[in-house]
Amino acid sequence: MRSGPIPRHVAIIMDGNGRWARERRLPRPLGHRAGMKAVRETVEGAIEAGVEVVTLFAFSEENWQRPHDEISALMDLLEEYIAREAQELRQQGVRVHVLGDRSRLVPSARGAVERVERDTASGAKLQLNLCISYSSRGEIARAARLLAEEVLKGTKKLEDVDEEAIRAKLYTAPWGDPDLLIRTSGEQRLSNFLLWQLAYTELYITPVLWPDFTRQTLVDAILDYQRRERRFGKVTASS
Ligand code: FPP
Repeated sequence: MRSGPIPRHVAIIMDGNGRWARERRLPRPLGHRAGMKAVRETVEGAIEAGVEVVTLFAFSEENWQRPHDEISALMDLLEEYIAREAQELRQQGVRVHVLGDRSRLVPSARGAVERVERDTASGAKLQLNLCISYSSRGEIARAARLLAEEVLKGTKKLEDVDEEAIRAKLYTAPWGDPDLLIRTSGEQRLSNFLLWQLAYTELYITPVLWPDFTRQTLVDAILDYQRRERRFGKVTASS
């Protein structure tokens, strides 16, 4: 793996927790709980591989429409994850950022999110972005709104509203676009995740259900990525 390029930024749609639980006749929240372990595997695997940024789709805006019990199980799990892992993340040099509409989180979850961001702020080895209450179309609409406000205030000229201006208003502005997107459980869609940012990203879809995802699955995805030829819409030197 060392011989090929390592994707600097890896994004992951963590899917299949429900199916994993169903296969075992367990309630869905236990699938999400098992998925928490896979997050740890991912963080450790990413550090080992030399990935610099990992962006995880943990809870979509659409997920607010799930049954109340499942939403509260997911929120509890988020708080538990932060309580249990924050110290280790800090020791590992991981800096956590939460992307999305955090105003919809219950106050205790919002507090936990703010705490983990503060407590891990010195992390420089791996940037871990957790997308929570996130929707890509919502993110793009928000960027448009922020730019419109600046134009209305007169602090930005209309002709300066270009691709770069939009990019700079996305939640992901500090990190650049993902090089590799992994989706687990075999579904072949983007589900309103990073639609702008994935324009030239390599896609890797694995049938592995999220709770079964290990650092080896991450290595397999990186090895597959290393066999790709990235052209960004251009022709290659050899063609
Ligand atoms: C998709 O599986 C997964 C989610 C909606 C939640 C992801 C949450 C975790 C992995 C656990 C917690 C993570 C953190 C960072 C605290 P699904 O329920 O859609 O599965 P299905 O498609 O098989 O029903």
